[in-house]
Amino acid sequence: MIQIEHLSKSYTLKANSTHHALHDVNLTIADGEVYGIIGASGAGKSTLVRCVNLLERPTEGRILIDGNDITHYRGKKLLELRSRIGMIFQHFSLFEQRTVLRNVTFPLELRKDTKAHREERGHELLELVGLGNKADSYPSQLSGGQKQRVAIARALALAPTIMLCDEATSALDTRTTASILELLKDINEKLGVTMLVITHSLAVADKVCDKIAVIDEGRIVESGATRQVLTNPASPITRELLRYDLLGAADASSDADGISDGAGQSAVGEELVTADAPAPGNEQERA
Ligand SMILES: Nc1ncnc2c1ncn2[C@@H]1O[C@H](COP(=O)(O)OP(=O)(O)O)[C@@H](O)[C@H]1O
Ligand SMILES: [Mg+2]
Repeated sequence: MIQIEHLSKSYTLKANSTHHALHDVNLTIADGEVYGIIGASGAGKSTLVRCVNLLERPTEGRILIDGNDITHYRGKKLLELRSRIGMIFQHFSLFEQRTVLRNVTFPLELRKDTKAHREERGHELLELVGLGNKADSYPSQLSGGQKQRVAIARALALAPTIMLCDEATSALDTRTTASILELLKDINEKLGVTMLVITHSLAVADKVCDKIAVIDEGRIVESGATRQVLTNPASPITRELLRYDLLGAADASSDADGISDGAGQSAVGEELVTADAPAPGNEQERA
């Protein structure tokens, strides 16, 4: 179970001013649940989810996982916490110089697993995400949906109990989005992984989330069972999101799959590389 209690996060900006990205957020996510965090761009969704694996440090409040207050974890405890939390991103954040297999086994390399174990686990994960035949391909040879499958396999490498999905389908077309959401649902059901799904799309939330919370300007404006919130929205913000979602559905079909991934690798580096491990940029093969 994840309990977020009175969580606030402020960013100190240059001119001695402070930006309050989250205000007094309270959420409880049960084991095995798929929980959606819905909101417009800038609402604070990424900040919230990044507090859960401490990529961001909360300014106030606390986060409990399975009853343990993780808010101030550092060093070894932080490492261990992050190994229990997988994360995927909008722009996949794959290592372009590594094969698909070696992207997936990267967390196992950091953990210094044997090559034999890494490869066995890597192939097993690629089978799970439907890419059994792509082990030796490079990310540039894959479509957007396939890239996200690689990222999902990598996020599962250490057998996490929680998965954080930050706009994981936002760079994908409608059909690919549906297939990735099916895969996530499948992983949730088969492996019992608790999922925190960040999205600006109510359609995405409707497909996979058991419950949702709507966030606006850093505050939770409503939460509850997905269907209940979407069919009977209490907040004007939710109604507005619903209206935009309907508009968006009209031109979503013109999106293209296989969007080239120009994203840097800092996000994944942050997630996977910890104080005790070398940064991915230091790998010899990428020199
Ligand atoms: N590192 C940062 N420094 C300063 N402001 C930030 C930082 N990260 C996010 N913000 C601000 O916090 C707010 C919430 O951002 P974010 O959580 O990324 O929103 P969302 O994911 O919902 O689009 C935004 O106004 C954003 O500009
Ligand atoms: Mg975001």
